[in-house]
Amino acid sequence: MNAQSANSPGKGKDIVPGGVWNDVDGKYINAHGGGVLHYNGKYYWFGEHRPDKGFSTQAGVTCYSSTDLCNWKYEGISLAVSEEAGNDIEKGCIIERPKVIYNEKTKTFVMWFHLELKGKGYEAARAGVAISDTPAGPYRFLYSGRVAPGRYPQNMTTEEKAIVWNMDDYKEWWTPKWREAVNKGLFVKRDLKDGQMSRDMTLFVDDDGKAYHVYSSEENLTLQIAELTDDYRKHSGKYIRIAPGGHNEAPALLKRNGMYWMITSGCTGWAPNEARMFSAPSIWGPWTQHPHPFVGKGAEKTYGGQSTFILSLPGDKFVFMADIWKPDSLMYSRYIWLPIDFDEAGKPVIVWQDSWKPGL
Ligand code: GAL
Repeated sequence: MNAQSANSPGKGKDIVPGGVWNDVDGKYINAHGGGVLHYNGKYYWFGEHRPDKGFSTQAGVTCYSSTDLCNWKYEGISLAVSEEAGNDIEKGCIIERPKVIYNEKTKTFVMWFHLELKGKGYEAARAGVAISDTPAGPYRFLYSGRVAPGRYPQNMTTEEKAIVWNMDDYKEWWTPKWREAVNKGLFVKRDLKDGQMSRDMTLFVDDDGKAYHVYSSEENLTLQIAELTDDYRKHSGKYIRIAPGGHNEAPALLKRNGMYWMITSGCTGWAPNEARMFSAPSIWGPWTQHPHPFVGKGAEKTYGGQSTFILSLPGDKFVFMADIWKPDSLMYSRYIWLPIDFDEAGKPVIVWQDSWKPGL
């Protein structure tokens, strides 16, 4: 892979997937697991600020802005961790995969992210929400929590809802009996009262202005899509399960010609794996699985990356965004951005490019 910096001040007109990406001041871009918001002619890239050494969140969510997707100006920390002990986003918590969308109704920018509480590993599995009047922030933290407490998914059957599971019978994972139980909603039921788990996540805004939170739930075994309220700050309570027991992470979505497409990864931590792809004629499904969209050398391991977001550009163009994680120094994890093509049947196809021009 090309290790050249294509994004040096003033001269970058190319995107170099997997390269060293610096901002216009020549500093390494630290915005991992991120997403891009297009607002008022500018692109705002939000991502995880990761330390050079260590793991937990020491700063917060960074923001960079650009008009051409190649030259990025550092806008600062858009959501800062708290210095207050016990705060949900206390320094040392884990903030991952932040995404920002603009809410027309309230004229506010709404950020959602995966939150793990300080000192608790990955056990909290919460979603966090923060808002701002300006795109780059600073964002004000509102709350964090699990998804839709007390509510069943729309696509769970009456029979599944009625099952009373004895959790003690399912202590051993990966047995056929356990798999069947997971598929029927073992963990949905376990978490019904306090709400569904929410880890790797993205946001998706549909043409009608409705927004959705898409996340790995049920111990990362099953994806869920939950509708947001009109102000995008809460869950409406309506949600579905997708690919029960399929072990999908890192969801990224696009909509084209009335079809919803979702690319995800498998669950292998920081190591790359074979991506997956799904489509549906409605956000509420049915979701159908397809082979992954990558072509050529490295396709079976997503070219070393893991999906994080799909950016929709004017003129029927889409950019697939992924992270090449570097667990020894997460700050220096790299980025893969590639244009998405579509075959005759309208299926996404992604081909590696050493360098390409977004042409904005
Ligand atoms: C990955 C996940 C990342 C992060 C990491 C922690 O599977 O996609 O967002 O949570 O695990 O090990």
